[in-house]
Amino acid sequence: MDRRGFIKVVGGGVVLAAAGGLPGCSRGIPAGAIEAWRGPGQEADVRRWILGYAILAPHSHNLQSWLVDLSVPDEIALLCDPERLLPETDPFSRQIMMSHGTFLEVLDLAARERGLRADIALFPEGEFSPGKTERRPVARIRLAPDPTIARDPLFAQVLARRTSREPYEVRRPIPAEAVRAMGESVKPHAVSFGFAGADEPGRLARHREIASEAWKIELTTPRTILESYRWLRVGAAEIERHRDGLSLDDPFVVLMTKLGLFDRAKAPKPGDSAIAGQIKDFDAKVAATPGFLWMVTQGNDRKTQVNAGRAHVRVQLAATAHGLSMQPISQALQEYPEQRATHARIHELAGATPPGQTVQMWARVGYGPPQQPAPRRRRFRKKRPDEPVRTGACARPCLRRGRRRVLKIPVKGGRDRRRA
Ligand SMILES: Cc1cc2nc3c(=O)[nH]c(=O)nc-3n(C[C@H](O)[C@H](O)[C@H](O)COP(=O)(O)O)c2cc1C
Repeated sequence: MDRRGFIKVVGGGVVLAAAGGLPGCSRGIPAGAIEAWRGPGQEADVRRWILGYAILAPHSHNLQSWLVDLSVPDEIALLCDPERLLPETDPFSRQIMMSHGTFLEVLDLAARERGLRADIALFPEGEFSPGKTERRPVARIRLAPDPTIARDPLFAQVLARRTSREPYEVRRPIPAEAVRAMGESVKPHAVSFGFAGADEPGRLARHREIASEAWKIELTTPRTILESYRWLRVGAAEIERHRDGLSLDDPFVVLMTKLGLFDRAKAPKPGDSAIAGQIKDFDAKVAATPGFLWMVTQGNDRKTQVNAGRAHVRVQLAATAHGLSMQPISQALQEYPEQRATHARIHELAGATPPGQTVQMWARVGYGPPQQPAPRRRRFRKKRPDEPVRTGACARPCLRRGRRRVLKIPVKGGRDRRRA
């Protein structure tokens, strides 16, 4: 962070200018907030062991809107937490559905490791309507031993996968072999994969332009920036307490927040120099991007969205296996009115014709610096042994603090839903 830039910004009455963009500025995430990345270890209950990996799936804005009902033996019911949505930037909850797909895919990879077949029934009590999420399960997963079930090598990348919002090595092209592996990785799901790299400079430039324009729109539209602010966790204490959202622990921003100079309840004014700084910063990252990839589906119903999410995490795991960094860039794919033109442009560039075809994922990819993991939510306690549980978080028993053997997970019916 550039101190002079920062001071100038503070002088202008705003903060965050040199913070390097909204999310991903974390330099020292508290250890507790990322303990889930150690994996479930020796967890004896196989469902909880599997869930210990599934919660490491990527989720838009790191909302972790997953609730799991474990009340039926050998089954996991996945539900969507209605309090963890993005109504402004994801008005139809398409990305929320994708983020359930990422969870299911990692769950499936983990089940395979244990020789279990995960029979996943999507929307077993009926599909959600196109515009909203509902209380019915997104999926019911039955786990059954199956000696024929094959392990998937992508599982080895689950603990290593990160979203990286850093600049990448622009002069280091992505090898054809890595592009092939990413394309191959999505084959289990009905999506088509596209890639533009250094050998297509004109196309690359168009990707950069659309990404920059869409980001600018998101940052200068008051209600969408405010939605991101809502999920911004500033400083170690907030990050540790919430263990979700977008972590920002730049010391200057933390200080300004403490001093009350960064008010997350107010949208920045037009022409705000802090926002201008973030736009410039993002432009630089996009310019330092040697490749873009995307995924298109036929149709856009709820099952298609979930399955696109399954493909999404597979691509990211395949990239991880090749030492590549990746950042999804969803802004132009979002369905709020201000993005209409960028939405049309990225669809055209990807060769997708709406409404029949939808670009579900768009990402920048390249070689980047190592990343810290993103927080995952604190586990919640189960109060009674007979109580059915829902968990959006790791289901490893909490023995560390000398309590009785409890699970730090949300409990069905909303009781004991102590938010971290
Ligand atoms: C459907 C979907 C859309 C996403 N869109 C963006 C995005 O536009 N920009 C971004 O920086 N990250 C995006 N992400 C990544 C999430 O922010 C990231 O998964 C989350 O912060 C947790 O971090 P992790 O992936 O390192 O575990 C997206 C992830 C998903 C699943």
